[in-house]
Amino acid sequence: MVVQEPAPSHRVATSDDLEISTYLEIAKEKEGQGSERGEEAARVSEGVVIVDFGSQYSHLIARRVRELEVYSEVASPDSTWDEVKSINPKGVILSGGPASVYDEGAPMVPGWVYEAGIPALGICYGMQALAHQLGGKVTPGLKREYGHAVLHQGIGASPLFEGMDGSMPVWMSHGDRIQSLPPGFEALAYTDNSPIAAMRGGEMYGIQFHPEVAHTPQGRSILENFLYRVCGCRGGWTPDSFVRSAIQRIRGQVGNGRVICALSGGVDSAVTATLLHKAVGSQLTCIFVNNGLLRREEAERVQRTFQRNMNMDLLYVDASQRFLGRLKGVTDPEEKRKVIGEEFIRVFEDAAEELSEAEYLAQGTLYPDVIESAGSGNMSAAKIKTHHNVGGLPKEMNLKLVEPLRFLFKDEIRGVGEVLGLPEEIVQRQPFPGPGLAIRVLGEVTEEKLEVLRACDWIVIDEIKAANLYRELWQTFAVLTDARSVGVMGDFRTYGNVVAIRAVSSDDAMTADWARLPYEALARISRRIVNEVPQVNRVVYDITSKPPGTIEWE
Ligand code: XMP
Repeated sequence: MVVQEPAPSHRVATSDDLEISTYLEIAKEKEGQGSERGEEAARVSEGVVIVDFGSQYSHLIARRVRELEVYSEVASPDSTWDEVKSINPKGVILSGGPASVYDEGAPMVPGWVYEAGIPALGICYGMQALAHQLGGKVTPGLKREYGHAVLHQGIGASPLFEGMDGSMPVWMSHGDRIQSLPPGFEALAYTDNSPIAAMRGGEMYGIQFHPEVAHTPQGRSILENFLYRVCGCRGGWTPDSFVRSAIQRIRGQVGNGRVICALSGGVDSAVTATLLHKAVGSQLTCIFVNNGLLRREEAERVQRTFQRNMNMDLLYVDASQRFLGRLKGVTDPEEKRKVIGEEFIRVFEDAAEELSEAEYLAQGTLYPDVIESAGSGNMSAAKIKTHHNVGGLPKEMNLKLVEPLRFLFKDEIRGVGEVLGLPEEIVQRQPFPGPGLAIRVLGEVTEEKLEVLRACDWIVIDEIKAANLYRELWQTFAVLTDARSVGVMGDFRTYGNVVAIRAVSSDDAMTADWARLPYEALARISRRIVNEVPQVNRVVYDITSKPPGTIEWE
């Protein structure tokens, strides 16, 4: 399947048809062996499987492949062909990982990789596992190689490095290295520390460095070469193509059935609902619960966007008083979450009773949730996370799940939202926690405190947007602390609330860095809050990163 033709173009077939059809025959033959995920079969016309050996970069590899317009999924080393075949794998990438091939129980390359006869690219540990299993020798390196290195290509061209000069900077992070090649393999490149930093045997490749990280500037081209020149991918997996196939799949799954969808106003549920609406129109009813813990104008915006502009059937439930009543006297953060979570389920069940003929429940579960709940990403074991948050839906409702975003990453969902024509304020909305403002009012939650916080939060978002910072920050918000402080206004002494501003940058909320906001933006926020919100006389800025802090204060 090696193609050594002009530079790959994602939309043009670059593959050798004869070999592709041979491959498809193998794939088809294997497909006949039955699948537990039958409904997923033919979900995509081609894909690449990322076997996750536990590297912190495995998801990043999947993302990079998708950015190159080829669909990818993460699978565990224990996966079987039956579990991966539904994406019609054109190739497999074996990730790095913390193990040494000589460790007891070290994960190995799954058997189907060799049996399916599809091209493979082993990265770091993935390369060592390939070499070890195929009869090469892996030994502890003389010293750990971590950080920048210069890769020198040997003589002889290889499709993997096509279009690249003899030497290039790469990013290394390994202890072991390949001492001798497996039979039938040749060395393609070396670094000062790794005599065999890249290898090839037929359509099996290994590279000791990490092409998926930004520190390997040509990494994207290497992955692109693997996908298009080695695997013969055709590409074209884009948000646009996703929308078209998702609509078909939803129609296939739901038929004439009625669907309900809990709409929160966040990007995941908004995109889910919009896809469903495009697919099955009036068979969909969305339920939007106002829990009284939303930000200013949030409930109105959701109604305006979905009910008025998009003409969706939206059941608006104002349950503010129910939630606030249940939160009376509750000060412990976890207790707040529990109360809100339970109440949400009750309210949702009551609302859904009115829609008793519904058969399906649409949910905005994302791929990271699926991978997380399945341990190292075993696709077969994939099951939905019991949401730790509010929005966890009733389990005993006996509805069949529709989860059109289950294989997408967050930024891909934003892309899909754009294709669907959702307004920017929804598509680019920063994450907002299910328990809402309740975990940003420290201590007991009351209507009065919520109103103070809403006024401050409005100013923060307004100023952050005016300074053009909203999109680059993960979250920006105000916290109403339970501290009071002395101040002076005119000739009067004041004793008012202290409000904290939180602004963080992050990729996934697992870690976060406090944002170095321009002083001018902070000054404007502070000035406006103390002038426009009479209950507040002091504004502080939270300069704690996560860890050790969390993003939310409660
Ligand atoms: P922390 O505060 O744990 O937050 O650093 C990480 C991310 O999760 C959000 N968050 C929640 N989301 N229910 C949610 O739906 C919750 O109970 C909850 N607690 C925190 C938080 O806003 C951040 O994006």
